[in-house]
Amino acid sequence: MNPTRQTPDMKVVAVVTANELRERIRSKSKLKGRQADEASLAEVRALIGPRPADGHHRDMLIEHLHQLNDAYRCLHARHLVALAKEMNIPIVEVYEVATFYHHFEVLKDGEAAPGLTVRVCDGLACELAGAQDLLARLPALLGAQEVRVVAAPCVGRCEQAPAVVVHQYPVPFATVETVIHALNSGYAQHPRAQGATLFIAHGYSEKSVSPPPPQHQVAPAYAGYDVYRANGGYALAASDLASEEGVERLITAMEDSGLRGLGGAGFPAGRKWRIVRAQPAPRVMAVNLDEGEPGTFKDRTYLERDPHRFLEGLLVAARVVDAQACYVYLRDEYHGCRAILQAELARLQADPPCPLPHIELRRGAGAYICGEESAMIESIEGKRGEPRMRPPYIAEVGLFGRPTLMHNFETLYWIRDIVEKGPHWFSSFGRNGRNGRKGLRSFSVSGRVKHPGVKLAPAGITLQELVDEYCGGMAEGHQLYAYLPGGASGGIFPARLANLPLDFDTLQPHGGFIGSAAVIVLGQHDKARDAALNMMRFFEHESCGQCTPCRVGTAKAAQLMQAEQWDNTTLEDLSQVMTDASICGLGQAAPNPVRCVQKYFAHEIGGGL
Ligand SMILES: Cc1cc2nc3c(=O)[nH]c(=O)nc-3n(C[C@H](O)[C@H](O)[C@H](O)COP(=O)(O)O)c2cc1C
Ligand code: SF4
Repeated sequence: MNPTRQTPDMKVVAVVTANELRERIRSKSKLKGRQADEASLAEVRALIGPRPADGHHRDMLIEHLHQLNDAYRCLHARHLVALAKEMNIPIVEVYEVATFYHHFEVLKDGEAAPGLTVRVCDGLACELAGAQDLLARLPALLGAQEVRVVAAPCVGRCEQAPAVVVHQYPVPFATVETVIHALNSGYAQHPRAQGATLFIAHGYSEKSVSPPPPQHQVAPAYAGYDVYRANGGYALAASDLASEEGVERLITAMEDSGLRGLGGAGFPAGRKWRIVRAQPAPRVMAVNLDEGEPGTFKDRTYLERDPHRFLEGLLVAARVVDAQACYVYLRDEYHGCRAILQAELARLQADPPCPLPHIELRRGAGAYICGEESAMIESIEGKRGEPRMRPPYIAEVGLFGRPTLMHNFETLYWIRDIVEKGPHWFSSFGRNGRNGRKGLRSFSVSGRVKHPGVKLAPAGITLQELVDEYCGGMAEGHQLYAYLPGGASGGIFPARLANLPLDFDTLQPHGGFIGSAAVIVLGQHDKARDAALNMMRFFEHESCGQCTPCRVGTAKAAQLMQAEQWDNTTLEDLSQVMTDASICGLGQAAPNPVRCVQKYFAHEIGGGL
């Protein structure tokens, strides 16, 4: 019998112990809410493996959702309930995460799993190359094969436009015929997607490179572990970096080279290393391989050719800030890259040239916002990718609450060359010494040029020079009309601004920025307003929805931008509130294409502001 006590109004009540209370809550909660059924639990356990002694780790939620999604081509509600139970997470949290990411489809009980998915990229470069025609024709042609055709935001293959992804396999330069062929044969191949010219730049012979994994033939052959080491690879990582002098030498080299973060923000790499290193241990590192900015495909291009150059940069940076663990976040669209990274990481770990930090490969799930650094951290922690308020900055409080060094893939890719060839090797590039621009930039060029692709060119090169000297000029029948210097966020410039030096800090006075150097070129038959609408629809689709100005502003702007004559006053109102009141760079930069059209292409929209 329970002990009793007297309440202030003199009633005698039984005293409930904490354990009893917990048990009551547990038994009550069993009555409420949906319970996991044994069959679903067994299916979930078979995929995610046995429960570790300390329970399933919360941050693995998205990885486990991928395992279910891969196996069933969707997420059944019953599996989500079972996963919540198995991971000891509230069901609502599992649902919140599962429904946030575009690559997960949650099905109610009784709903049939979808067939194979064909994603037609409707990013700007693909739209210019005929994506809408594919989207109009494919459903009727493929319906009989139980295939679902959907439009997808930029899949990072703009130089192969129009790009289609059949299940997980890319079809470059897609036509109705090649998509059908890919469906029937399991993967696609196109001669123009082959070639490994970048090997020459790094001194590998084309014969010495490994063949790509057979199911990902679209990627060219790449330099595997043995080839990389045979060419002097990992000598830097294996050298004495841990001493104070060694670390100082590396940080100084980064500072002297002028290397700035190549993910878009352009923060000086050496300074970032100093800031993170000064924070209390333990420290961690995260690599941004989300490459979601429409028009950007440089990270994929380099990774498909020389993955260890990046991995060595990762090891060096991790050593400098003494990071205990490193998380590599790769966008889900890059299945071929994932296969390469998994294979080459395993080779590196089997024969390490130096002590390695704990390295984990994490898979995005189709959310552009997860490229924003704090959203990426949320995602690696297994949550919805919603950007955090700052301060604190991630260098102080980042992944798992620890000081975090985050870098774009390409920033790390250049480290070995900068240290080996000397910081002045990198800083000696720069077109005509114009405005003191220094270093190299990897421009992802797409649109109406003869030879699209990644063009490694000196910082400060102009658009006109880039097109003429690196892209073989404009495509047949096209004259330069306009260009986007920095993907969706970097604005749209008219041809008369084709002589601006392309670099960090040079384009802001004109209402744009270089960002990740994704250059999309438009010809005289294209319209800047169509490009701006394409971008705004992208932002609307990708807004995480956390702040009203961005969530509602992008949707409302996309609606207004369809009118023959733009309501510039209302659009400017929206632009101002998005710029002023959005938490992160997505909402803050979303008005750039609108404002550029109002400023430079007023004749297309019935007049400017
Ligand atoms: C909306 C948004 C999307 C972003 N997407 C990417 C991305 O896909 N890849 C990337 O490297 N950086 C991206 N960034 C920049 C990152 O937040 C961060 O600045 C970068 O990863 C830092 O690395 P870095 O200093 O080496 O450039 C994005 C930023 C914003 C605001
Ligand atoms: S600006 Fe947009 S994407 Fe960024 S946090 Fe706000 S709602 Fe999310």
